[in-house]
Amino acid sequence: MRKPIIAGNWKMNKTFTEAKEFTAEVKGLVPDSEKMESVICAPALFLEELVNESDGYGLKIGAQTMHEEESGAFTGEISPVQLKDLGVEYVIIGHSERRQYFNETDESVNRKVKSAHAHGLVPIICVGESLEERENGETNAVVERQTAAGLEGLSADEVSRTVIAYEPIWAIGTGKTATTEDANTVCGVIREKIGELTDAATAGKVRIQYGGSVKPDNIGELLGMEHIDGALVGGASLEAGSFLKLLEAGSNE
Ligand code: 13P
Repeated sequence: MRKPIIAGNWKMNKTFTEAKEFTAEVKGLVPDSEKMESVICAPALFLEELVNESDGYGLKIGAQTMHEEESGAFTGEISPVQLKDLGVEYVIIGHSERRQYFNETDESVNRKVKSAHAHGLVPIICVGESLEERENGETNAVVERQTAAGLEGLSADEVSRTVIAYEPIWAIGTGKTATTEDANTVCGVIREKIGELTDAATAGKVRIQYGGSVKPDNIGELLGMEHIDGALVGGASLEAGSFLKLLEAGSNE
């Protein structure tokens, strides 16, 4: 049985003051982490505050990206050692916005994923096709390539602890979601690929999230699907009330 994982990705939103208001509002209302994992991936500036404020209840904290090196002359970057030292537990790697605007490639994603595992962080690897790729019938090939590249060189144990987020690019922030059947089919394709790369038992342990215009009113149906084990949520994770509704719907599945 895979434990569901619902993660908010705040992207470059909120001020520090707003982040503190959010944690005050959700404090004590997050479902038991034995049942479901609830994560907020926040701008790096707020991570320390969020880790401290979420101490002792179910909310876990993630970063939105990281550099693969432990330290060094990489102006503006943040290392896995720095994240781990703060108490951060998750890190999103290879979000389509980072692939599109910040030159992340399958190779750089793989280096970061390996480094995240080496430092005890759980990577959430984002994969997903563009609208053009979907229209050309390339969806499966794209997610298979990104999944294989992201997991390249990991042990079966590391693979089993990795989270994959299937986020079709055309569904991000657009209000368009893949149909639940479509989302489930692609998540199944990803799981099958992981099985080819490792073995069926390992593939059966990997949690695969769907992301792209997930809202409180569609999350239940998505989480009811066989291969969808959670959601990576942008816009609907920004307001405390909406985030709590996502968690509530998730914990009822
Ligand atoms: P939206 O939920 O705003 O579509 O964003 C999805 C996303 O990119 C999460 O990483």
